[in-house]
Amino acid sequence: MDHFALDAIERIAAAPRAPYETIEVARLTPVIGAEISGLDLAQPLLGQQLAEVRRAFLENHVLVFRDQVLDVDQHKAFARLFGPLRALPLEDIDGDDPELVVIKANRHSKFVAGETWHTDGTADVAPSLGSMLYLKQTPEIGCGGDTLFANMHLAYEMLSPPMRGFLEELSAIHDGAIPWQGYEAPPGLPKTEHPLVIRHPQTGRKALFVNSGFTAFIPQLSRSESQALLDLLFDQVAREPILSCRVRWTPNCLVFWDNRCTQHHAIWDYFPYSRYGERVTILGDRPLAANEGLRLG
Ligand code: SIN
Repeated sequence: MDHFALDAIERIAAAPRAPYETIEVARLTPVIGAEISGLDLAQPLLGQQLAEVRRAFLENHVLVFRDQVLDVDQHKAFARLFGPLRALPLEDIDGDDPELVVIKANRHSKFVAGETWHTDGTADVAPSLGSMLYLKQTPEIGCGGDTLFANMHLAYEMLSPPMRGFLEELSAIHDGAIPWQGYEAPPGLPKTEHPLVIRHPQTGRKALFVNSGFTAFIPQLSRSESQALLDLLFDQVAREPILSCRVRWTPNCLVFWDNRCTQHHAIWDYFPYSRYGERVTILGDRPLAANEGLRLG
C-alpha cells in the first residue's frame, strides 16, 4: 500500500474513542464494523443506550446485533428510532408490506439481491440513511452467505490529494435501471445526479459516493473518461480488502449499516441452500456536496 493509504488507515484506526457505559462494542476491523452486545432490541432502549448506539453507528458505520428475537413491528420500531421508513410500490416487492423487503435465496433462485458491490437506493433523489437487515435463516449447511461492507470515507481518504480535489468538482448520474439490465424493468425507476464526493450529514466527514450497482456516468467528462474513472473507483473497493469488514451471519442477527458512507456485497456462495431475511430502509436526505460550490446540472 502507498503512504496515502497507510496514513488514511492509521488516522481512522487510531482515532480516539470515548468508552461506552451501557453497551459493549467489539470492533470487527480497525476501520469498519462493530458487534454490539448488552441490548435486547425487542425492548424500548433507555436514553443513554440509544445515544451510545447512535454514536457507535457513526463511529463504525456497520453494527451487528446477534441473538435478537424480533417480530416485524419490533424490527420496524427499532429502525424508526433513526427516521421514517421507505415504502416501496407493492409490485416491486415480494410480500404485502411496502416497508419490508424480503431477502431470500434457495435452490430455485437464479440470482440473489445485492450480489455485487452497491449502496442501497442511491438513484433516489434522497437516498436512504441506512438499512437494517434481520436474518432469520442462515444456510442449512452451516456456512456461507456472509456480507461484505466497505468504508467509503476511507475509500476517499486513501486517494492522493490531487485526485481527491479533482473528484470533488464532479457529480455522477445514478440510474435505478442498472440492476435491471437483462430483465424487464418496472416503469418509473429513478435517475438522479449526486455529488461524487459527499459530506456525511451527521459527522461532516467526506465520503466517495459512487457504486457499481447504480452509478452510470459522470456528466462533466467524456464517456470514455467517465467509464475509466468510474472503473478505477469501483475497482478500488474490490481491490483493497482493507476497506471492508465481513459479517458472518447467525440466525436472528440484525445488521444496521449506514448507506451514506458504505457499500455492501452479499456473497451467494451457498447454493443450493437457503437464506431468509427481512430488510427495512430508513429514509435519508439529499446528499450534501463536499465541495459546496459544486453545481449539479
Ligand atoms: C442487500 O441489502 O443488498 C442484501 C444484503 C444481504 O443479503 O446480505
